[in-house]
Amino acid sequence: SKVVLAYSGGLDTSVIVRWLQERYGCEIVTFTADIGQGEEVAPARAKAEALGVREIYIDDLREEFARDFVFPMFRANTVYEGEYLLGTSIARPLIAKRLIEIANETGADAISHGATGKGNDQVRFELGAYALKPGIRVIAPWREWELGSRESLMAYCREHAIPVDFASQKKKSPYSMDANLLHISYEGGVLEDPWSECEEDMWRWSVSPEAAPDQPTYLELTYRGGDIVAVDGAAMTPAQVVEHLNAVGGANGIGRLDIVENRYVGMKSRGCYETPGGTIMLRAHRAMESLTLDREVAHLKDELMPRYAELIYNGYWWSPERQMLQAAIDQSQAHVNGVVRLKLYKGNVIVVGRQSATDSLFDEHIATFEEDAGAYDQGDAEGFIKLNALRLRIAAGKGRGAGGH
Ligand code: ARG
Ligand code: SIN
Repeated sequence: SKVVLAYSGGLDTSVIVRWLQERYGCEIVTFTADIGQGEEVAPARAKAEALGVREIYIDDLREEFARDFVFPMFRANTVYEGEYLLGTSIARPLIAKRLIEIANETGADAISHGATGKGNDQVRFELGAYALKPGIRVIAPWREWELGSRESLMAYCREHAIPVDFASQKKKSPYSMDANLLHISYEGGVLEDPWSECEEDMWRWSVSPEAAPDQPTYLELTYRGGDIVAVDGAAMTPAQVVEHLNAVGGANGIGRLDIVENRYVGMKSRGCYETPGGTIMLRAHRAMESLTLDREVAHLKDELMPRYAELIYNGYWWSPERQMLQAAIDQSQAHVNGVVRLKLYKGNVIVVGRQSATDSLFDEHIATFEEDAGAYDQGDAEGFIKLNALRLRIAAGKGRGAGGH
């Protein structure tokens, strides 16, 4: 049999290659993706070759990730549990899709990954894989083997002559990290105590708000169909947009988050996240919608959003209900066109202007506090309020008003 492994080239997944060979005697296909994690993916080829792997896939998926996953998610203003911008969650369905495509190309009958049996990622990889190829077999070494710590993994490498740079393993970060174009996450280490503050030097993508420049940075984001298509007038691809906003956001101390969240498997987990570009995109998109969306459409989107966030967090990207929600969200975005002007300052994203030449529903002549041209008759408001008050007045008349307590 043949297994496609999501391979980072790091310690864990290198151990998995050898373990799969020994435990299952199977042929391995490795798959390594550049999804904007900021680390070279090319070295994964030589590492896989050294482990005897003959079929090696290395893909640059940054544009696909931004265009088909990150941007559609931001059209919904998606936030999990009020705070988490789903940086890891949104990357997993893409990995699952590529694993299955490669399984189909190479005739593999199984996939494998390096997620533990305690987390969300295993669920996301595997729900995606089953949805895209119902007969696929899944091998999750972390749920089977006895190698529980970094020390035992390193011992396994020594015993099995797996070439790893032991010196660099020793000075490796104490956190479990996951990075892509949208965010970098930190879990474990001192973070396992929800009361203990992380060290300042944990953060890699942003300066602290205290160390951010004393002068604000202004940005103009151009939207078409709910997506950013240009920054400060310069056209950009989706991946370029996220990269650029990460850089300016990080330089202004934007996008740090420290939370306790509910994992799908039932436990609470403490994590820290840096999502500079995403934090800017969320704020700006809401500003663009505030001018261009109908009130009821906007409110309905806000009601659906937590469901949509939960679907993505729990790993149901490749589900009919996610597709149904996406269709509704995308339909709502046809009029979300225009420009948002922002001021970035010491960790804050401040909206200072918004305009839409074609799709603004804002009518100065109606909203003005000055004399209006007769588009709005203030006398109409009296009946509007009275009819809305009718049931309140009936109840109050029967002594059932809410005036008591
Ligand atoms: N808790 C976050 C999530 O579930 C981040 C997970 C990070 N994953 C990792 N392999 N370090 O989306
Ligand atoms: C893991 O357990 O592999 C990482 C954390 C998570 O998936 O939630």
